[in-house]
Amino acid sequence: MIFSGITLSVMPGEIVSVIGKSGTGKSVLLKHLIGLLTPDSGQIFVDNHELTGADRNTRELIISRFGVLFQGAALFDSMNIYDNIAFGMRRQNIHEDEIARRVPEMLSHVGLRGVEQKLPSELSGGMQKRAGLARAIARRPEIMLYDEPTTGVDPITGGAVDRLILHMRDEFHMTSIVVTHDMQSAYRVADRIVMLYEGSIIFNGTPGEIRETQDPVVRQFIEGRAHGPVSVT
Ligand SMILES: Nc1ncnc2c1ncn2[C@@H]1O[C@H](COP(=O)(O)OP(=O)(O)OP(=O)(O)O)[C@@H](O)[C@H]1O
Ligand SMILES: [Mg+2]
Repeated sequence: MIFSGITLSVMPGEIVSVIGKSGTGKSVLLKHLIGLLTPDSGQIFVDNHELTGADRNTRELIISRFGVLFQGAALFDSMNIYDNIAFGMRRQNIHEDEIARRVPEMLSHVGLRGVEQKLPSELSGGMQKRAGLARAIARRPEIMLYDEPTTGVDPITGGAVDRLILHMRDEFHMTSIVVTHDMQSAYRVADRIVMLYEGSIIFNGTPGEIRETQDPVVRQFIEGRAHGPVSVT
């Protein structure tokens, strides 16, 4: 079992960063929220709709409210960047004129102006990640799940990604869960930081509170020290 006895609530319009060592289950947590994995026990609610145990239609309706940036960018290899970004919007029947306006706008937000006609394989790893980000947010989902949005991205572009996460909240009241290893990014975007450790939530508080905590495991993580209660393996 990966998690046991965890309770996590996220309020509308809130940005929650989830941190924790590699392999602690951050990506697995996100996959449960969109029904890609089902918990052995426990419940998941989106507003007052229960995802766990819902019938197919209800599940699809709930899941359609989410946008996801997967840890790998998960672009469609055979589609150019324009069509990749347009994909989710077309499924929502957004008009082609509006799509043609939003694609370059999203690309410019992630620092990728002019790559519309390129295939994913023609972009670097970090560029693919950013194109995946543009695709995920272009249709303006109510709830966005980001799995390490700034990993593999240079610090300047990482700053732009953080600004974009904040912009989507300010402009569209988007609710966000941001899985990250990047503490600087967590401090910049998060209203609340949640740390996973050995199947539990060992910290849940504001960036100000985490800076002050005396918990040795949390301190070791946020300070990035090799020595402490947590082993590197
Ligand atoms: N579908 C699954 N069913 C059961 N266990 C899984 C599944 N997918 C991953 N795991 C296991 O769950 C653990 C957590 O994996 P996860 O990918 O969530 O880690 P993570 O915290 O996202 O790590 P990283 O920071 O390296 O991305 C790992 O031990 C992994 O092998
Ligand atoms: Mg992961």
